[in-house]
Amino acid sequence: MGHVQGLKCRECGHDYPIEPLHVCEMCFGPLEVAYDYDAIAKEVTRETIESGPRSHWRYGNLLPLDGPPTDGLDTGSTPLLRADRLAKALGVRELYIKNDAVCPPTLSFKDRVVSVALSKAKEFGFETAACASTGNLANSVAAQAARAGLRSFIFIPADLEVAKVIGTSIFEPTVVGIKGTYDEVNRLCSEIAGVYEWAFANINLRPFYAEGSKTFGYEILEDLGWDSPDNIVVPCAGGSLITKIGKAIGEFEKLGLIEPANTKIHAAQATGCGPIVTAVLEGEEFVKPVRPDTIAKSLAIGNPADGIYAVETVRKSGGYAAHATDEEIVEAIRLLAATEGIFTETAGGVTLAATKHLIESGHIGRDESTVVSITGNGLKTLEVVQERVPQPHLILPQLGAFEELMKTI
Ligand SMILES: Cc1ncc(COP(=O)(O)O)c(C=O)c1O
Ligand SMILES: [Zn+2]
Repeated sequence: MGHVQGLKCRECGHDYPIEPLHVCEMCFGPLEVAYDYDAIAKEVTRETIESGPRSHWRYGNLLPLDGPPTDGLDTGSTPLLRADRLAKALGVRELYIKNDAVCPPTLSFKDRVVSVALSKAKEFGFETAACASTGNLANSVAAQAARAGLRSFIFIPADLEVAKVIGTSIFEPTVVGIKGTYDEVNRLCSEIAGVYEWAFANINLRPFYAEGSKTFGYEILEDLGWDSPDNIVVPCAGGSLITKIGKAIGEFEKLGLIEPANTKIHAAQATGCGPIVTAVLEGEEFVKPVRPDTIAKSLAIGNPADGIYAVETVRKSGGYAAHATDEEIVEAIRLLAATEGIFTETAGGVTLAATKHLIESGHIGRDESTVVSITGNGLKTLEVVQERVPQPHLILPQLGAFEELMKTI
């Protein structure tokens, strides 16, 4: 720990001290954590990482805490599975699932970012955590705040899926449902953050929070035997995860932990809310905001905070992007379940459907290796598949009844 130099504006490079700040006073650009990589290189080797804890804190030297972590000690270290049955169905040679549908404690990759944000919030002395969320972040902040003994305020669009709401309320935070889109929730939260001295994970603590996403990338590289894949497909909402996967690869290269990588990073979004993907497809530098209309509610951010950096990450890597319709999302959720026994939420459906498009269009080569980022759990979005799975056979508790049934199967 302790290799953070400060915060730096991504746009004008102005330096700031380590404080709960996220916007540059000079140019309104976003602030990012800057590290002393020479000092890190002296301490971090493949061996030191391998002998670290079985959680994403094994990469603690590349995360922005001053002291030891206090939250999410069980977070990360999720499986990277070789997916041969799915590969066959898609007609590719080498396919992997990075499975954050089982990330502790609340079954999405958001547990990574929240564990960093709340550990940092405690270092800053905050007593209340908060967030604006499309669902998964709400689950994670509520759960991890409960465990940390922090009060929490959770702001969500009022029309989220039942499991996302109950999976938040069970931890007894104050939940505020807002009659509006996520973008409206986020705007309101920015105003609230100006009035209340709370640790908003994805607003005033955003530079620290976002660093947690790097660990999703680090784990892929370590689990491939300190190697980089030819492709990674990543679902985008605010555009932070994809940007930080790009940063993770760059850092491992810089530290000599992997050979120079040639990984194409591809963006996946729903057709009904795909401003980042649209910008990539149309060769635009700017991301034009949209009003979301998709079943992929976790990705329904019409005005992504890190949109331009997401687009830049895709372009610099030589990657591409693809949209997925609601129908394609459901089909992809079912395909992943049927081939690999993994039940993902809508975001995973978006990612797999986009992967299929990228293979069909030749942007992912059939002989290349590809990692599909599965970032959330299907039990949280049952609504979208409820009518699409076979109903159980109903019988009386008698062998005869079962034998009658067997004649029809
Ligand atoms: C399951 C899931 N995957 C991916 C994302 C996208 O993350 P980001 O906002 O960093 O682009 C989200 C965001 O809420 C999510 O809930
Ligand atoms: Zn600036």
